[in-house]
Amino acid sequence: MEEEVKRGMTRERQQERRAAKSSNVVWHAPNVTREMREARNGHKGAVLWFTGLSGSGKSTLAHAVEERLHAMGCHTFVLDGDNVRHGLCSDLGFSEADRVENIRRVAEVAGLFVQAGVLTLTAFISPFRRDRAQARRLLGDDFIEVYCAAPLEVCEQRDVKGLYRRARAGEIADFTGVSSPYEPPEKPDIIAPTGEESLEHCVNLVVDWLAGHGVIRPEGGR
Ligand SMILES: Nc1ncnc2c1ncn2[C@@H]1O[C@H](COP(=O)(O)OP(=O)(O)OP(=O)(O)O)[C@@H](O)[C@H]1O
Ligand SMILES: [Mg+2]
Repeated sequence: MEEEVKRGMTRERQQERRAAKSSNVVWHAPNVTREMREARNGHKGAVLWFTGLSGSGKSTLAHAVEERLHAMGCHTFVLDGDNVRHGLCSDLGFSEADRVENIRRVAEVAGLFVQAGVLTLTAFISPFRRDRAQARRLLGDDFIEVYCAAPLEVCEQRDVKGLYRRARAGEIADFTGVSSPYEPPEKPDIIAPTGEESLEHCVNLVVDWLAGHGVIRPEGGR
């Protein structure tokens, strides 16, 4: 088992493997390892998991952080809620079961990006603690929860996509914050005060955290 963990198959993954439908599948260990990729990149792979209400600034902040990291020479990719729902998760709706499956798939894909040594940023409302906890279990220490802390009133005032107005008019079912709950993180790794501070302030906060925790070097990657 230790050997399997070393080869990049976490304990969580082994348990899932046992529960999976396909049994005749054997894990193939890569020749080019995550460690080799990270050494070449000059930074670690990790997942910055942005969570918060619609309009709290997940996409805006994730893309701005990515832009900064990219300029610093880091390898990055953003998995954004709406974009993923155009393809990978286009078969899913917004029922509770579909939201759970949406987050599970995103966590799985983010995990593959981490194995590729990429700093991965995900921007999903991910309203339920249980689902974020599942993502954390799957990704282990690679999971960095970033809470975009903007109050509902601010998000509703912004109403970037006009969705709050439509939800209040009863045109959208299960809309987070209006007709479906949002469970704020209890112990997020980073709290970005996106409701009151500037975008630049929030970008600095995230990038400084990454440097402070040894995910990136202060001077960036290569
Ligand atoms: N500090 C900040 N960080 C991020 N966004 C901010 C900040 N201050 C103001 N904003 C504004 O808040 C809005 C956030 O919209 P954005 O689309 O990023 O939200 P979202 O959380 O991705 O929503 P959704 O879940 O609907 O995709 C933008 O108009 C952005 O300019
Ligand atoms: Mg968004």
